[in-house]
Amino acid sequence: MADPKETNEKYNVKRFRSVGKENPDYGQARDWLRAVGFGFHDEQRSDELIDKILAMYQADNRELTGVYVNEEPPLHALNPGFPVATFGTLENKLNVGFGEELRTRQITAVTVRGTHRRHGILRGMMTADLADAKDGGFAMAALTASEASIYGRFGFGVATFERSIKVDTGPKFRIRHEPVGRVEIADPRVLLDLAPEVFEQVHHRTPGSIVRQDSYRHHVSGAMTRDGSEDKAIKCALHYAPDGIIDGYVSYKFAGWDTKPYTVEIVDLVAATDSAYLELWQFLGSIDLVEQVSWPDAPVEDPLVWRSRTDAALRLPTTATCCGCASWTSLQPCQPAATAPMDGWSCRSGMRSVLPTVPGN
Ligand SMILES: CC(C)(COP(=O)(O)OP(=O)(O)OC[C@H]1O[C@@H](n2cnc3c(N)ncnc32)[C@H](O)[C@@H]1OP(=O)(O)O)[C@@H](O)C(=O)NCCC(=O)NCCS
Repeated sequence: MADPKETNEKYNVKRFRSVGKENPDYGQARDWLRAVGFGFHDEQRSDELIDKILAMYQADNRELTGVYVNEEPPLHALNPGFPVATFGTLENKLNVGFGEELRTRQITAVTVRGTHRRHGILRGMMTADLADAKDGGFAMAALTASEASIYGRFGFGVATFERSIKVDTGPKFRIRHEPVGRVEIADPRVLLDLAPEVFEQVHHRTPGSIVRQDSYRHHVSGAMTRDGSEDKAIKCALHYAPDGIIDGYVSYKFAGWDTKPYTVEIVDLVAATDSAYLELWQFLGSIDLVEQVSWPDAPVEDPLVWRSRTDAALRLPTTATCCGCASWTSLQPCQPAATAPMDGWSCRSGMRSVLPTVPGN
C-alpha cells in the first residue's frame, strides 16, 4: 500500500509537491524532508537548509510521497506528521539517440524508518509509483542506488558506470593535443547559470544522458554543500571554443597542503567536445604546485587514456571499474517486474546523469 487512494489499518499515504514557507502545506514538505535526512543519516537539517532544498525541489517539480502511521504514537515518540517512509519522483528527459528524447520517471529519496522496515512499505511505494508512471505514459524509470541489491527485484538493471581516477600531473604529464580554444579562470558562481547551459550541449550529443536536477548547479558552483553551507574552496575554469562559445567547464578544489602528493580534486568536468575536454585537462595538468589531479566520478570511456603521452601518468585503481567504486543508474520499463536477483555491485550514492550505455530492454 503506497497509493494515496489506498489506506490500511496501520498506514495512510499522501502525495504532495514541494512548496515555499508561505504555503499552508509547508510543514508537511518540511517534515518529509527531515525524514529523508534521517533515513540517510544526515545531521538534523536547519530551517534555512530545508528552505533551500525545497526551492530546488520546486525547480525540479518533484512529487513527494509520504507514508504515515494512523495511530497516535506513544508519549515522546515522533509525532505522526513525520512520515515513516518517503519516496520522491521527478520527470526528466533521457537522450535515447538519433535526436530523440524519452520522458523518464526519476526516483529518489527512498527511505523507510528503521522501526517500520520489512513490512513491505518499499515494495508498496515502488509498485504503486511504477504503475502510476506507466499510466502516465512513461516508458522508462531511472534511479541511482545507495544499496544495489534492492532494486533488481523491481526490474531495474545496471545502466552505467563511473570510476575513480588519479592522474600524475608531474613533469611526465603531457596530452597529445594542439589547443583550438582557450581556458580562462572565472568566479565559480557563474556556474549557477552556465553549468546547465553547458550540460545541455553535452546532453544533446550524448545518448544515455539524462537532464540534471537543479541541485547540480548549486553544488558545482560552491553555492551549497550537502549541509547547506557555501563551499568556498571551489574554483572554476571555463573553456571557450574558437567562436567564443563556452563549451566546457571544470569546477575543482585544492585538497590542502596536508594531502601528499599535492592534489586538485575535480568536482565536476563537463565538456561538449573532445577538444574542450582535453584542453581543460591540459589546464588542470598545468596548475603550479600541484602533482596530482583526482576525479572520483570520472567516465569509464575517457579520451584522456589515449591522449596521455605516458601510461604512467594515469593511475587507475585496479579494482575500480568492476566493483567497489562503480556507480550506476538503473533503467527499466515502467512496470513492476518479477523478482530478479541483482549482481553484487557495491555502489555509492550519486546523481550522475550521463549514462554511457542504455540497456536494450
Ligand atoms: C532499504 C529500505 C528502503 C527497505 O524498505 P522496506 O520497507 O523495509 O522494504 P520492503 O519490506 O518493502 O522490502 C521489499 C523487498 O526488498 C528487500 N530488501 C529490503 N531492504 C533491503 C536491503 N537493504 N538489501 C537487500 N534487499 C532488501 C526485502 O527483503 C524485500 O524483498 P522481497 O519482497 O522480494 O521479499 C529501508 O530499509 C531503508 O529506508 N533503508 C535506509 C535508506 C536506504 O538505504 N534507502 C535506499 C537508498 S537506494
